[in-house]
Amino acid sequence: MADLIDGKALAAEVTGKVSQHAADLIASGTTPGLAVVIVGEDPASQVYVASKSKRAKECGFHSVQHTLAEETSEDELVALVEALNADPAIHGILVQLPLPGHIDSGTIIQTIAPEKDVDGFHFINVGKLGTGELDTAFVPCTPAGAMLMLERVRGRDLSGLNAVVVGRSNIVGKPMANLLLAANATVTIAHSRTADLPALARTADILVAAVGRPEMIKGDWVKPGATVIDVGINRVPAPERGEGKSRLVGDVAFDEAAAIAGAITPVPGGVGPMTIAMLMANTLVSACRAAG
Ligand code: GUN
Repeated sequence: MADLIDGKALAAEVTGKVSQHAADLIASGTTPGLAVVIVGEDPASQVYVASKSKRAKECGFHSVQHTLAEETSEDELVALVEALNADPAIHGILVQLPLPGHIDSGTIIQTIAPEKDVDGFHFINVGKLGTGELDTAFVPCTPAGAMLMLERVRGRDLSGLNAVVVGRSNIVGKPMANLLLAANATVTIAHSRTADLPALARTADILVAAVGRPEMIKGDWVKPGATVIDVGINRVPAPERGEGKSRLVGDVAFDEAAAIAGAITPVPGGVGPMTIAMLMANTLVSACRAAG
């Protein structure tokens, strides 16, 4: 049976360190400030955004949430982001995705000042990650958290290891592949058009699942002893728990994979909590940079 990589415990450790450093920074006159913006009423997004604002407060940050109506125009949202860019009390700006269809998310992301882009989605930060300028980049929170979990099992240097990332999103798959590469892994990005995905997955010493398909990755796709990082959070019906009930599952068929892997992240309690912890860490870093 694989070792469990406990994201809840590691996230608590990261958040504890962030709170301590924040207290020092506050004592020296700078309070880290995070602005979280949500447009519309997507229930999952509302839950995520509320946890981000709450955790920021728990870290001692100045935490602001802007909740905008579904009908908000792109111009109005651009104006809000520009006001936050100019606000010296704000060090991190996060606009929750997805945005309603009439707003172009690319336009909004590129409006965020790169030095306040704690999501790491602006071209400047994507470019810095791609060129290995990790000291001044903001790295997207979910892959950054996944890397910290991986470090606990495999260390920082992944030389000689094959990593397969299943999924090519801008939020997870692509930045994850770049981080693995920066850590010297040999990286393959797989996706829905990849030929013989199970065979490719079986070559992976490190298998990262970020596809958003419940339990797609089966036990016999896993190389014995591999480290499996499951980024998926999928809500599926659970009639066995009662009528209308649901449960969360990852992109990996957990029980099967855990019987073969060396270490694996659970869902829930794996990568999910790490995302918010890394957002707090990025906001603290931004405030430290602003304080000089
Ligand atoms: N939606 C899902 N994940 C994320 C994230 O990491 N950041 C933002 N802004 N929106 C998201």
